[in-house]
Amino acid sequence: MDVHPSRHLLSLVGLIAGAGCGTSAPDETAATGPASYDEIALAEAEDVDPQAAVVEVRLRARPVADGGNSEGMWGYEGVVPGPVIRGRRGDTLVVHFENGLPEATTIHWHGLRVPNDMDGVAVAQAPVPPGGSFTYRFELLDAGTFWYHPHHLSADQVERGLYAPLVVEDPAGEPAALGRPVLLVLSDAGPEAGRGTDAGVRNGREGPRLLVNGREQPTVAVARGARQRWRLINAARSRFFLLEVAGHALVRIGGDGGLLEAPAAPSDRLLLVPGERAEVALVLQGAVGDRVAVRAHHYHRGADRDDVGADGFGDPAPVDLMYLRLAEGGGGGPDLPGRLRNLEELTVPAAVVEQSIRIGERAQGFVINEQPGGTHPHLRARVGETQLFSVTNHTRFDHPFHLHGFFFQRVDPQTRRPAAPVEWKDTLNLPALSSALLAVRFDDRPGLWMFHCHILDHADLGLMGMIELTR
Ligand code: C2O
Ligand code: CU
Repeated sequence: MDVHPSRHLLSLVGLIAGAGCGTSAPDETAATGPASYDEIALAEAEDVDPQAAVVEVRLRARPVADGGNSEGMWGYEGVVPGPVIRGRRGDTLVVHFENGLPEATTIHWHGLRVPNDMDGVAVAQAPVPPGGSFTYRFELLDAGTFWYHPHHLSADQVERGLYAPLVVEDPAGEPAALGRPVLLVLSDAGPEAGRGTDAGVRNGREGPRLLVNGREQPTVAVARGARQRWRLINAARSRFFLLEVAGHALVRIGGDGGLLEAPAAPSDRLLLVPGERAEVALVLQGAVGDRVAVRAHHYHRGADRDDVGADGFGDPAPVDLMYLRLAEGGGGGPDLPGRLRNLEELTVPAAVVEQSIRIGERAQGFVINEQPGGTHPHLRARVGETQLFSVTNHTRFDHPFHLHGFFFQRVDPQTRRPAAPVEWKDTLNLPALSSALLAVRFDDRPGLWMFHCHILDHADLGLMGMIELTR
C-alpha cells in the first residue's frame, strides 16, 4: 500500500490498495477478464483476526494529514473515503474504534441490522470523546452494500469526509459471474453554496466538487465487453446523483439490502439519493481507447429555485463525474440470470393499522405529524409485527427517507403487496408532495430506532423521529 502522489484536489487522501477490489466468487475474474479501476481503488481495512468467521479491524478517525486542499477534512484512518470493511454473511464484525478527532463522534452502520446499542446514535451510546475508544461488535446478517458514518454532528462530520463502505458478500448465496465487482463511493466536497445561510441549510448544502472514491473526474481503464458489477454508494450530505453512462444502458440488480429478486428493466439513468446504494450491471461497448463519460445530471430535488442554473433558465449542464477508458476485454461470459435471488415478500396482515408519518414544513424547520422534530410522540411497534408506514411528504422538497435497523419493502397502495422487482430498502426518496406505503417487519431487536431524512441538514432541522420497539 503506498500513498498516491498528490497532484490535484484530495488525491493525497486516497490510498491505493494494490489488490484493487476484492472478488467474491473465484470464477468472476476469469469470466470478465482483466479490468482496472486500480486508479481509484479504496483502502481496505485489515482483518487482524485469523478466525474465518470473525472480521476484526482497528479504525481510527483523525484529521486528514495534508496542509493543502484537504484542510479541515477528517477521515477514517485519515483517508477519504475511509477503508472498506469486508465480511461475509454470518461473520461477526468487531471494530476497535478510536477517536483521534478534536470533537466527539460515533459510528452508525447504515443499513445493517445491528443490535440497538451498536447503532451509534445518541439514544444508544454516549458519543466517543476525543482520545476515547469504543468497540462495536455485531453479526453481519445480510449480504449487501452498506456504509458507515458518524451519527453525532453528522451534517458536519460526514461533509468533512467521515464515510466509508462496508460490503457483505455472500458468494454461496448468489448467482455466479454477476460481473466484476467495482466499488464506487459518490460524494461531494468543498465550500458549499449558501454555507451558513438559512436558505442554504434548508435546501441541504452541497459541495461543488463531485467526487468518485475521493477523486475529481478520475479516468479509469475498463475492459470492454466484460460485465461490470458496480456497487454504488451515495455518501454525500445532500446531493442527489442522477447518473448516466454515455451510450450505455444500466441494469440495476441490487439496492440497499442486497440483490433484487430479478434484474430491473434497463435504463439510461439511475437516481441515487443520499444514503442510498445500488448495484448495477453494465457492459461497456466500443473500441479500445474510447473514452466513455459517466455523467451526473442535474436533478431538481424540489428545493428553492436557486439551485437552478445561474441564468435562471433550464437546468445546469450535466457534469462529467469520471471517464472510462476502454481497454482490451476478456469478453463474453454468461448472460445475466433472469432471477437473482429468492426474496421473501412481506405480507401485510389485512387488519394492520397504518402508522402515519406526515412530513411538513414550518418557518423554523420541518415537522413530523405537525410537531417539530423530537417533540412528537414515538411511533410504537412490537417485536414480531409487520407494520405499514404511510409516509407523506407535504413539503416542496424531496426527502430521502431512511429507517435505522430494519429494511422495508415499498408496497402498492391498491394491492398492499410489494411492487416487482421486490427488494429490501432502508433509504427511499420521497419526491416533493408525494407519499409511499412501506411494509416493515420488526425482528427481535428492541430499542429506540430512528428514522430521518438523509439530507443531513434536513434531519438537523427536525426531519427525524423515533420508533419505540418493545417485546
Ligand atoms: Cu446513514 Cu441515521 O443514517
Ligand atoms: Cu429532507
